[in-house]
Amino acid sequence: MSSPNTIDAGSNTVAAPAQVVLVVDFGAQYAQLIARRVRELQVYSEIVPHTITAEELAARQPAAIILSGGPASVHVEGAPRLDQAIFDLDIPTLGICYGAQLIAHQLGGTVGRNAQGEYGRTTLTRDPGTPGALLADAEATQTVWMSHFDAITVVPDGFEACGSTPNAPVAVLESERRRMWGVQYHPEVGHTPAGMELLRRFLHDLAGCAPTWTMDSIIDTSVDAIRAQIGPGRAICGLSGGVDSAVAAALVHRAIGPRLTCVYVDTGLMRLGESDQVVETFQKHQGIELIHVRAGDRFLERLAGVTDPEDKRKTIGEVFIRVFEEASGGIEDADFLVQGTLYPDVIESGTADAAKIKSHHNVGGLPEDLQFKLVEPLRNLFKDEVRNVGSELGLPDEIVWRQPFPGPGLGVRIIGEVTAGKVAVLQRADAIVREEIAAAGLEREIWQAFAVLADIRTVGVMGDERTYAHPVIIRAVTSDDAMTADWARLPYELLETMSNRIINEVDGINRVAYDVTSKPPGTIEWE
Ligand code: XMP
Repeated sequence: MSSPNTIDAGSNTVAAPAQVVLVVDFGAQYAQLIARRVRELQVYSEIVPHTITAEELAARQPAAIILSGGPASVHVEGAPRLDQAIFDLDIPTLGICYGAQLIAHQLGGTVGRNAQGEYGRTTLTRDPGTPGALLADAEATQTVWMSHFDAITVVPDGFEACGSTPNAPVAVLESERRRMWGVQYHPEVGHTPAGMELLRRFLHDLAGCAPTWTMDSIIDTSVDAIRAQIGPGRAICGLSGGVDSAVAAALVHRAIGPRLTCVYVDTGLMRLGESDQVVETFQKHQGIELIHVRAGDRFLERLAGVTDPEDKRKTIGEVFIRVFEEASGGIEDADFLVQGTLYPDVIESGTADAAKIKSHHNVGGLPEDLQFKLVEPLRNLFKDEVRNVGSELGLPDEIVWRQPFPGPGLGVRIIGEVTAGKVAVLQRADAIVREEIAAAGLEREIWQAFAVLADIRTVGVMGDERTYAHPVIIRAVTSDDAMTADWARLPYELLETMSNRIINEVDGINRVAYDVTSKPPGTIEWE
């Protein structure tokens, strides 16, 4: 991470409040969801690996810990365990699914093997004799979401069983004295209707966490941390038009005002009207100093004759860095570079699958050897929190709710050679797709919707004339994180309107197709 002129990113720019709840990750599908739910309850949370030692954990002084679920069975050799000494730290603890089984297993209870598993909705019945503190205010029965094979059958000494489901004799266990609770079901998922109430009860009432992680506190602590890191220095920020770099810039601007300069490299491969909007928002409304580099011709020149997708990505990435360096070189005394890195990127870095599908060029992700110290004010935030911060800082909805857009822009949505003419055609077709998605009120449901220009031509007939022109492919997907995606089941009428408008309004297009490929096996972008 460190080159001579870079510091360990985020070491002092991140806004970590005094009170933290640590989510210990046992390989759960839902670890991030648990952390987000805790934050929704206005308590700051972070995810830590299950290999954390008691010493390391104690050093963080967490207000509470939550042990996540996980795919393993406690009985399998090498199954992840918690450092046993953590159980003696007297920190309020909630185990969820595998986490609850670990509490039972490591503290002397019994987890039954090969019991009959439970997957999906089931009914939890509170034990009327020992309702326990966790379920004290809960209904006698409630619907909960289960996903387990093993089940706790005997609680450890000092614990009580407080609820059961048809296939989990101990679905809730607790020891008030030890301040430990466990639930076999998943309170963090939407399918457990009273799940948030359970988490609230644990955090606010039993663990004594104060609900202080609010938008105001996020902004205030971030601003303080940024000021402390940058001191009297100057910073620059590469804006992409996307929400992450926009919010990072707005936050840093709030902290250091005119000592921030933003650089917007207009590659000429942006969506219709996007560059004007970036300039308008940042320069006019936010009053941020902005260098707008119009480099479209330079990109097109270098892209002439380039048709291979990887070559295109590399070419665009290289030109981008050169242009950015030239622009930022003129900013005197700037030695800090603002990046919009988010918490999920931080969690996943290092653990992500190394197989290279595509080389990503990320406008926010400039190389570290640019000789700047990194300022990453969003390093501890999830995307939804970043959007809220953006709104709070006065950024318009069009930026705060903008769909993800690849760094290489329309360059990877024009199959074959990229030319000025093709860019103009695709910009117009793409604008129609996005306009119609917005008109149908689907903007926030659809992860991305856009047009792709193919480099084949097809025969058609318009007004009794034969046409021979390019087809456009509409791509619309739903997704939570872009790792997997499903093609969106758009209404036929909406597809029809898009198709009619594209063919009638965009010269050079005589056919529209809809992409019905999910990811995997497809990727979201075509190149
Ligand atoms: P794929 O096509 O790999 O895309 O399924 C996954 C998500 O990443 C976006 N994407 C990029 N974002 N630089 C970026 O910043 C890139 O080079 C890049 N390529 C793809 C894509 O739009 C989708 O949201």
